Amino acid sequence: MTYRILQGDVIKRLRDLHGRSVDCVVTSPPYWGLRDYGVSGQIGLEATPAEYIAKMVDVFREVRRVLRKDGTCWINMGDKRSVWNVPTQAFPEAHFATFPEKLIEPCILAGSPEGGLVLDPFSGSGTTGVVALRNRREYVGIELSEDYAAMSERRILRAITQLGTEVTA
Ligand SMILES: C[S@@+](CC[C@H](N)C(=O)[O-])C[C@H]1O[C@@H](n2cnc3c(N)ncnc32)[C@H](O)[C@@H]1O
Repeated sequence: MTYRILQGDVIKRLRDLHGRSVDCVVTSPPYWGLRDYGVSGQIGLEATPAEYIAKMVDVFREVRRVLRKDGTCWINMGDKRSVWNVPTQAFPEAHFATFPEKLIEPCILAGSPEGGLVLDPFSGSGTTGVVALRNRREYVGIELSEDYAAMSERRILRAITQLGTEVTA
C-alpha cells in the first residue's frame, strides 16, 4: 500500500493528480464562517456564502476530473451531524472536528475496491488515510496547513506501524 500527503492549496494540488485516477473521495470541507485554521489561503473565510459556494464548485469540478467514471464521492457538510448515528471521536493533536472512523469506514468499503485509491482533498489530521490504509486501499491526502500535513504524516505512520503490513509513503 502507498500513501501521499500533498501539502498546498486544494485546487493547485488536485491539478497535479491524473484524471480518472481516484476510486473514492471521502472528505469534510471547511464550512463557511465556522472556524479559522490559521493559515492563509484557507477556504471558509470568504466574505459571503456565495463566494464560498463558488470556491467549493471549483474544488469539486477538479474532484470530478480526477474521479474515475465509476468512482464515488462522500462529502460531510456540517460538524458532528450525520444521517448516520455515529458518536464523534476526538484526535488530541487536532483543534478541529475530525472524522469518526466508524462514519467513513463504510464509505471507503462500499466506494472503492481493495487496492483502490482513496482521496481526501481536505485531509486535516489524516483520518481518511488511516481508515483507507487499514482497509488495504491506497491514499492521497491534500492539506493546506503545513502543521496539519505533518501531524497527519505522524498519525498515519503510527497507524501503519501498528498494522505491520508494508506501506510506503
Ligand atoms: C474540517 S477539516 C478536515 C478534518 C479531517 N476530516 C479529519 O478527520 O482530520 C478541514 C481541513 O481543510 C483544510 N483546508 C482549508 N482550506 C484549504 C485549502 N485551500 N486547501 C487545502 N486544505 C484546506 C484545513 O486546514 C483543515 O485541515
